[in-house]
Amino acid sequence: MQQLDWANLPFGYVPSDYNVRCYYRNGRWGEVEVTSSDTINIHMAATCLHYSQEGFEGLKAFRCPDGKVRIFRMQANAERLQNTCRGILMPELPTERFCEMVRRVISLNTRLIPPYESGASLYIRPLIIGTGAQVGVRAADEYLCVMFVSPVGPYFKGGFATNNYAIVRQYDRAAPLGTGAYKVGSNYVASLLANKLAHDKGYSCEFYLDAKEKRYIEECGAANFFGIKNNTYVTPKSTSVLPSITNRSLQQLARDLGMAVECRPIPVEELDTFEEAGACGTAAVISPIGKIDDLDTGKSYVISKDGQPGPVCERLYHLYRDIQYGIQPDKHGWVEVLDLD
Ligand code: PLP
Ligand code: COI
Repeated sequence: MQQLDWANLPFGYVPSDYNVRCYYRNGRWGEVEVTSSDTINIHMAATCLHYSQEGFEGLKAFRCPDGKVRIFRMQANAERLQNTCRGILMPELPTERFCEMVRRVISLNTRLIPPYESGASLYIRPLIIGTGAQVGVRAADEYLCVMFVSPVGPYFKGGFATNNYAIVRQYDRAAPLGTGAYKVGSNYVASLLANKLAHDKGYSCEFYLDAKEKRYIEECGAANFFGIKNNTYVTPKSTSVLPSITNRSLQQLARDLGMAVECRPIPVEELDTFEEAGACGTAAVISPIGKIDDLDTGKSYVISKDGQPGPVCERLYHLYRDIQYGIQPDKHGWVEVLDLD
């Protein structure tokens, strides 16, 4: 059995003991199955392979200082996956079935849940793929839902520290009426080139403007954007941004702290006016933004003058993490303590 260096885990794949699966055949989801195989045997004409009929999710479970294991907002992930399924004509997995699979896959892999002190967590990756064969462009008649886990460390090396982004104008992640609001694999393959370009130039990640006009802020790679000014939390409203559960949670926490929340189109020039800004998502948690360089215009938006995270990002980050770890009261009913008997 491998010895894991909990404190230095990357955000990556670690082999686990078991994963869980559920097949959709003859118009219904079957029973949940447990397997220790990390491969899937599917038809070469499966729609997921040719036409990207695939959607996924990402959520985390935490080993807490009180010894309990807490799962964060899994109902919200179940609902978002259902929305993804509606968007690409896949059958919806009911919330209860989704939650049962999440609880099961964590319970089967408890040795992989990192200790609290490490700062790492257990990432749960659910996916649904079209497995039925088609050659014409049509939805499959059979599907597979798989959930596996992997212990993960921070998405960006260095943990809670500022990161720099590059506006890459020559590639779009998603079209205004496309699939950006769904968590489908095709959005991520569309981001690979822009991401490589940003990395090659020394940035942590690419930064997207809206595809139609290139005037408004969209997303920070695979994370949502928020800016802070005048005691207000500002985040983009767009049909092509993924509705982030972290972002929704942070908006609530900002309100709880007495801040105003604005969800509206954000012109890119407004970046100059933010006191702080961050990227947020399950993987990134909150990743404060240092600066954002527009590679085409040469304009540099410096958000953090001293390169350090700002006080509001820091406060939100700790509050959010402390709720996930059961340290702060769960006022909004976001966490479920896993029953481990
Ligand atoms: N934006 C994109 C494109 C993502 O892939 C993710 C990750 O799921 C997010 C934002 C953040 O969403 P969440 O906070 O639900 O993880
Ligand atoms: C997130 O969880 O925030 C992500 O963006 C997941 C990413 C690895 C696709």
